[in-house]
Amino acid sequence: MPVITNIEDLRQMARRRVPKAVFDYVDRGSYDEQTLRGNRAAFAEIGLRQRVGWNVENRSTKTTMLGEDVNMPLAIAPTGLTGLNWANGEILGALAAEKAGIPFTLSTMSICSIEDVSAAVSKPFWFQLYVMRDRDFVADLIARAKRAKVSALMLTMDLQIQGQRHMDIRNGLSVPPRMTLSNALDMCKKIPWAMNMLTTKRKTFGNLDGYVKDTTGINNLSQWIAGQFDPTLSWDDVAWVKSLWGGKLIVKGVLDVQDARMAAQVGIDALVVSNHGGRQLDGASPAIRALPKIVEAIGDRTEVWIDGGIQSGQDVFKSIALGATGCLIGKAWLYGLGAMGEAGVSTALEIIRKELDVTMALTGNTDIREVTRDSLQL
Ligand code: GLV
Repeated sequence: MPVITNIEDLRQMARRRVPKAVFDYVDRGSYDEQTLRGNRAAFAEIGLRQRVGWNVENRSTKTTMLGEDVNMPLAIAPTGLTGLNWANGEILGALAAEKAGIPFTLSTMSICSIEDVSAAVSKPFWFQLYVMRDRDFVADLIARAKRAKVSALMLTMDLQIQGQRHMDIRNGLSVPPRMTLSNALDMCKKIPWAMNMLTTKRKTFGNLDGYVKDTTGINNLSQWIAGQFDPTLSWDDVAWVKSLWGGKLIVKGVLDVQDARMAAQVGIDALVVSNHGGRQLDGASPAIRALPKIVEAIGDRTEVWIDGGIQSGQDVFKSIALGATGCLIGKAWLYGLGAMGEAGVSTALEIIRKELDVTMALTGNTDIREVTRDSLQL
């Protein structure tokens, strides 16, 4: 077993185990991947202020997100196709999150369904919603979320039109994975993955069962999205979703202050500053750079969270110092899942928690809720 020191170690393990088409879907971004790289580079550019001579023995990373107690200001982001990294991956992610005391978000485009996850967990989870052209289907998803253990709905705003991911095209990404010659050759090196996938009935989009006419597979994901996702989505629709749902509402995918104000006007509970992990508008601002202005504009009315490039506890710390009250991770937890299943997710979460804890100590902080911009060297 390789030594695991950080998220990159899990990434390398996942790369060796998971089929290339699935790994690249997780790992890569859209077009020239400038925003994908920019998210990470922008975090690296932020310096930390080392402090010494302060008693930092008793430290706490505990806080709240949406009023829910969390062991650290981190939640698992909704990610599509998760259950193709490891059989029943969504359930395993939810269980690992539950054990770590942080929230888990299930994607609309998950492999396990809302009901699968609900039956497996004991604590409530969050559900991410895409607005489709077929509003009856959207209403049905919301009703299903209400019946399940869902305590907050996360509405994604930035993927009504999909940005092109070159690798998905080159790899012929399909759900379930299709047997082209190069995929078959790759699969020969991924026998443990294939054996593991034989243990589950879930290999296609669990939430779309009975909705997608041909459930045997979606051969061209981006074409399917183009046909189904509603490009007319507007802030009025957000109000419609809010009234149908009636519970806590998170809006994800905002980078612009004006848009953030529109979201706050609808009366949401949290906003996720995000460029979809560099998977949508290539050239968009790194998420961490967009964060401070949005916090300034709406932070008094709603919680402001961030995702995009967070792969360490230091990144979480910097986000909190710049005004976020929570962070989401996509790639970081999927690398853990692809590497070692539930144990890998737990390892990823523990790596980030420890890094956050030590970063607090070395910046002279004992309570994550009191970390401010003062701890940065800008
Ligand atoms: C879907 O949310 C994706 O980024 O592929």
